[in-house]
Amino acid sequence: MRMVDLIHKKQHQKELSTEEIQWMIEQYTNNEIPDYQMSAMLMAIYFEDMTDAERGALTMSMVKSGDEIDLSQIKGVKVDKHSTGGVGDTTTLILAPLVASVGVPIAKMSGRGLGHTGGTIDKLEAIPGFHVELSQEEFVKQVNEHKVAVIGQSGNLTPADKKLYALRDVTSTVDSIPLIASSIMSKKIAAGADAIVLDVKTGAGAFMKTPEDARNLADAMVKIGNHVGRNTMAVISDMSQPLGFAIGNALEVQEAIDTLKGHGPADVVDLCLTLGSQMAHLAGVGKDLDEARDLLEANLHNGKALEVFKTFVAAQGGNPDVADDPDLMPKAAYQTEVLAHKDGYVAELVADQLGVASMMLGAGRATKESEIDLAVGLVLHKKVGDKVSKGEALLTIHSNQQEIPDVEEKIWECITIADEAKPLPLIYDILA
Ligand code: URA
Ligand code: CA
Repeated sequence: MRMVDLIHKKQHQKELSTEEIQWMIEQYTNNEIPDYQMSAMLMAIYFEDMTDAERGALTMSMVKSGDEIDLSQIKGVKVDKHSTGGVGDTTTLILAPLVASVGVPIAKMSGRGLGHTGGTIDKLEAIPGFHVELSQEEFVKQVNEHKVAVIGQSGNLTPADKKLYALRDVTSTVDSIPLIASSIMSKKIAAGADAIVLDVKTGAGAFMKTPEDARNLADAMVKIGNHVGRNTMAVISDMSQPLGFAIGNALEVQEAIDTLKGHGPADVVDLCLTLGSQMAHLAGVGKDLDEARDLLEANLHNGKALEVFKTFVAAQGGNPDVADDPDLMPKAAYQTEVLAHKDGYVAELVADQLGVASMMLGAGRATKESEIDLAVGLVLHKKVGDKVSKGEALLTIHSNQQEIPDVEEKIWECITIADEAKPLPLIYDILA
């Protein structure tokens, strides 16, 4: 096989075979195909797209390019959840114990964050003692014993995707549905997922700015999943304003704990029950989505989800008393309220810019090397559509510096108060 022939084929709208795609990805991973030829292929895919069969083959070739996590020693269907990323998204911290509480094994690998706040792993480290470095054996053992474990990325997963992503970044080919969809799906499958629930965000704080773009990406991922034998469902959810009230690491852990106690913010609860019922349903719990949702909702109110959270935290070395004593987590030195300057309704809380404000406080990493301040962040008191009176607190800034004029200025750029405003929808669509 010659790469130049494959580029020519794709350039002329001919379908690449599974063998051709496998060969190309294997050779590229082994540095046998140079970046300049792969760049030409990526650009051809960008313009000519890929068929369902090609997308499936690309996904599985990337899975096979490196290690795959073997979860076969865990009984039951292993369901994973993936979010395309947003601001203040605490759902994994809630979903892991919540879905485990109805008997579904949750063996989750999560990342650290680059950007607004930390990733799930950073957030969990706000719990004193909590550690994420488990061996493969310990990981599997913990899920078998306690139904849930969350660890950091380990092993050499999807090296082809890492190499391709870096090349896409410098050849203006990131923004391609078949390439994004296969990239995301390959990582979930390599991490051992039998079934996958996707939370595709849309709005200012998301990668996909419109519901239509988000739906196209979700549809592509659901088709890939079903093509390669992994049951996949997707939710299109709003990220034009932050999810819930808290943005910041320890602040989001607290929000997760409140939700597991049955008094979370309405949007967080609704999104977790929607995603959770899909996860439970794909794992065979409940006769339909409604029954799965009822079981999960009951466990948010009867203490069972919180109990699993405590067991999970303790199993990974953390202090389970954080569930009842927020003072055990890092706490910022200063709390400053931002007050409404007039009466009206909150019309805008621009998610990505509020994320930037949190990062300026130190909640997120500007570069891979930055240290995160787990204590700082923002807590909203109002959401879009809420009524406010002049002088009422819109949000509280939690900071470790007394003077933060640049952050306050940034925050004012994110907030609009108008004479009228409607609440935003949370869920735009569900795909199965
Ligand atoms: N996230 C991914 O993991 N891959 C992409 O290609 C884009 C976003
Ligand atoms: Ca939140």
